[in-house]
Amino acid sequence: MNVVIRRGDAALRTAATVAVGVYENSRRLEGAAVALDRASGGALSALISSRDFRGGWLETAIVHPNRGRARRLIAIGLGRRGDDTPHRARLAAAIAARRARELRAGSVALVLPWPESASQDQARAEAMAEGARLGPWRHTAYLREPGPPALRRFEIVARDAESARALAPAVTLGARTGEAVCFARDLSSTPGQDLTPEGLATRAREVGKAAGAKVEVLGVAQLERLGMGALLAVGRGSANPPRFIVLDRAPTRALRRGKPVTLVVIGKGVTFDSGGISLKPHENMHKMKYDMSGAAAVLGLFHALPALDPTSRVVGLIPSAENMPGSRALKPGDIVRALDGTSIEVTNTDAEGRLLLADALGYARRLKPDAVVDLATLTGSIGIALGHLAAGLFTDDERLADELARASSATGERLWRMPLWDEYAPEMKSESADLLNSGAREGGACLAAVFLKHFARGMRWAHLDIASTAWSPVDRAHERRGPTGFGVRLLLEWIARREAN
Ligand code: BES
Ligand code: MN
Ligand code: ZN
Repeated sequence: MNVVIRRGDAALRTAATVAVGVYENSRRLEGAAVALDRASGGALSALISSRDFRGGWLETAIVHPNRGRARRLIAIGLGRRGDDTPHRARLAAAIAARRARELRAGSVALVLPWPESASQDQARAEAMAEGARLGPWRHTAYLREPGPPALRRFEIVARDAESARALAPAVTLGARTGEAVCFARDLSSTPGQDLTPEGLATRAREVGKAAGAKVEVLGVAQLERLGMGALLAVGRGSANPPRFIVLDRAPTRALRRGKPVTLVVIGKGVTFDSGGISLKPHENMHKMKYDMSGAAAVLGLFHALPALDPTSRVVGLIPSAENMPGSRALKPGDIVRALDGTSIEVTNTDAEGRLLLADALGYARRLKPDAVVDLATLTGSIGIALGHLAAGLFTDDERLADELARASSATGERLWRMPLWDEYAPEMKSESADLLNSGAREGGACLAAVFLKHFARGMRWAHLDIASTAWSPVDRAHERRGPTGFGVRLLLEWIARREAN
């Protein structure tokens, strides 16, 4: 889909389908909506005065004017005037694009009121372009009938010609970002049969190449040589061997002074989590194909990275394995040795994510990074604590917490700060090894985070437990039931904001 921003008169002269945002109980239309209403013989004001449509938040109605160029108007409720954040513009654009696709419109122009102050125009334009890609997304790879065809074109109606020109780069970045999220969603939706650790590595090579990153994939022999005993142990029960994937993107623009900052992002890449010998109950086991959603977020980030072209070096690390029971599988009671030399007694083979991440954090330390963020569908416990509306943020670094919190509110990808108290640590002590890999049920997400903290020592590090947000149980404006691609937009925004400061 082509996402563009255009002058109102130009867009409305050609658009057959126009989506138009209307505030709740508004008595007058504004901006391009006035011209649209006039051109369509007052169809919009008639809809509003009929009271059949009240403009409630994301309420929609369709009218077919019998005058003017547009043969179909999609009215979109914007709710109360005043709560006008870029995120709300993102959601309104998502609904517009989804409805237009359902109507097989082919292309659509979106008229949303621009607030008086232009200070958030960039963020709004970018958010709308993202929404245009997120709203209509569906995973169609396995469908015989993939439903209405994708939109060919989405036009955002600008304030005027000058702002259309000024906002074009923001629209391009937003569209690319939305595409990256869809890429991550498709990856997380792919069944384990078709996405093994080596399959993930293949996708990483493609994405990395397109992003101008060096990609290195370590296989079993190399992992043995390096001493990644924890990752190897998780992968041992499967016929599909583990991989450690490294994507390394140096800045293309020369820095005026000094060395570039190195940012490391780590994504858990368990392509299927059966639990291993500590087998999971069967009820929701099929969902564990998305246990590589952290990895998908990292690959999504790299997909969009050239559009941002940061002056930082960005390194993506993906420890990937299939967690299966098998005659050679890791057994409860086994003691494994991680890359940094720490010995870990495995009391539950289903707590495999932290084993993978232990080795990835050990690898990250060797890169002397300025900051490390890991994303992992790590514990069911985070979903018990927060429901599906927020991911858990664990960090001792206040500056990093602040940076991530700002990125979170800009993107609407919610993070909620969780404790990382050292007093949790004794619960993870073993009699016969340095650490246990699993503790009590109570505070499970915190115990997992404190386990990781041991391996992140000495680094500026944050852990995002995305097990709560990587899969949505409901349809929302910009996401569908299923994999959400959570983290792609957050990471991009985090990096973009660091660049701006
Ligand atoms: N991949 C799961 C966590 C998960 C659960 C993600 C539900 C998404 C939805 C992880 O590997 C796991 O199994 N964690 C265990 C840890 C426990 C054994 C200490 C859990 O949360 O039950
Ligand atoms: Mn598990
Ligand atoms: Zn898992």
